[in-house]
Amino acid sequence: MEKMLVHGRRPLQGSVKISGSKNSALPILAAALLTRDTCTIQRVPDLSDIHYMLTILSSLGCEVERASGTVRIRAENIRTETPYDIVRKMRASVCIMGPLLGREGEATVSLPGGCVIGDRPIDLHLKGFESLGAAIRVQEGNVKALAPGLKGTTIRLRGKQGSTVLGTDNIMMAATLAEGVTLIEGAAEEPEVVDLANFLIKMGARIEGAGTSRIIIEGVRELQGAEHEVIPDRIEAGTFLVAAAISGQGVTIRQTVPDHLQSVTSALREAGFRIDIAGDAITINNNGKRRPISINTKPHPGFPTDMQAQMCALLSTTEGLSKITDNIFPQRFMHLAELKRMGADIELEGATAAIRGVSHLGGAPVMASDLRASAALVLAGLQADGITEINRVYHIDRGYESIDEKLNALGAHIERVKSSHIKNAKSR
Ligand code: EPU
Repeated sequence: MEKMLVHGRRPLQGSVKISGSKNSALPILAAALLTRDTCTIQRVPDLSDIHYMLTILSSLGCEVERASGTVRIRAENIRTETPYDIVRKMRASVCIMGPLLGREGEATVSLPGGCVIGDRPIDLHLKGFESLGAAIRVQEGNVKALAPGLKGTTIRLRGKQGSTVLGTDNIMMAATLAEGVTLIEGAAEEPEVVDLANFLIKMGARIEGAGTSRIIIEGVRELQGAEHEVIPDRIEAGTFLVAAAISGQGVTIRQTVPDHLQSVTSALREAGFRIDIAGDAITINNNGKRRPISINTKPHPGFPTDMQAQMCALLSTTEGLSKITDNIFPQRFMHLAELKRMGADIELEGATAAIRGVSHLGGAPVMASDLRASAALVLAGLQADGITEINRVYHIDRGYESIDEKLNALGAHIERVKSSHIKNAKSR
């Protein structure tokens, strides 16, 4: 198993290019199931979650070719059942259900298990499929959806915590091939939903309103192959902005969409940083004194839950009392215990982390628990004295393309080593 050794307190400077969005690419790859023609998707990031999705598509009978960032998928003859072993590895595999149901009238997927970031039900996805006319049966850990013909209708997708991103994707994909008009109310407004809608429109789907809470889909008889370039990953971009805030002397994030990052850049401005935007580039500079802030995660365009852990790392060394509340995943705070091991002063009250900034963190062995938590530990390591040893780094490879190489190119010193090498290094 690999670990990362982050040698702290190296200044970051320069520019970094942002990769394609993981959370856009995953449902877009699944959408290729909606047609027998070839789909070509560009700027697909090289991540283990993407690899799982391509394995799932192959197991369903798709021909999949990948050459650097371009993926070609041809779903001519497909099955509608996926093996548990592959599906259980990634919750996003649930988004193959919508396209399978839309095209083949049936889909069987393993129910996603518990997740370290909290309870992640799929009741809203299932409610949406039922409204479209599918019969849902949960049996032996699998969820089976059957619908000889889907019929358009009005679906209210808002749950207790607000809208659902993959739920909106799933229903939108199924509805493209349903008879008549589907209206999704309470739809997720995330840029990744808009990117998927744009791809579906290129395939011949009739969709209006993506990016608002009301999406209208007029079903068509069939969809065709299409080409599409995935949007830049706003969470990777946000993570690099926070890395630069922590230890930067002027860093530019390139090939991004600044509009997608407004809530993050405004939080960083409030925290005392200077942000300059020019075209598809965002530059961040230290601007005198850092300030404590309060953040509430919200669906887009609010502050993203996927940036909560990274902000905890930044605020743990910002003098004063900061507060971060995660209303979307109230249990997504596994990183706090690890940050505390590095010397952070944080108390969790319900879904709110109260962070009292300390003057410095110290390197320590820490455990990555999920994707964004592991990014937060890398960021904490950048500002810590000494070496931070991050275990279970496979979590970070699920969603960040070469984060260590990209940070090293900016001036960081991060080593990726096998566990046995660490013991040798220490005994010397
Ligand atoms: N929810 C329900 N019922 C459902 C679906 C969701 O109650 O049927 C609740 C969830 O428990 C949560 C809230 O609704 O409290 C929002 O969850 P959502 O469905 O929007 O999450 P998701 O679609 O499963 C995507 C991203 C996550 C990101 C969330 C929120 C992908 C592959 N995943 O998940 O990304 O945190 O939206 O923005 O797009 C990550 O990249 O690290 C990650 C976890």
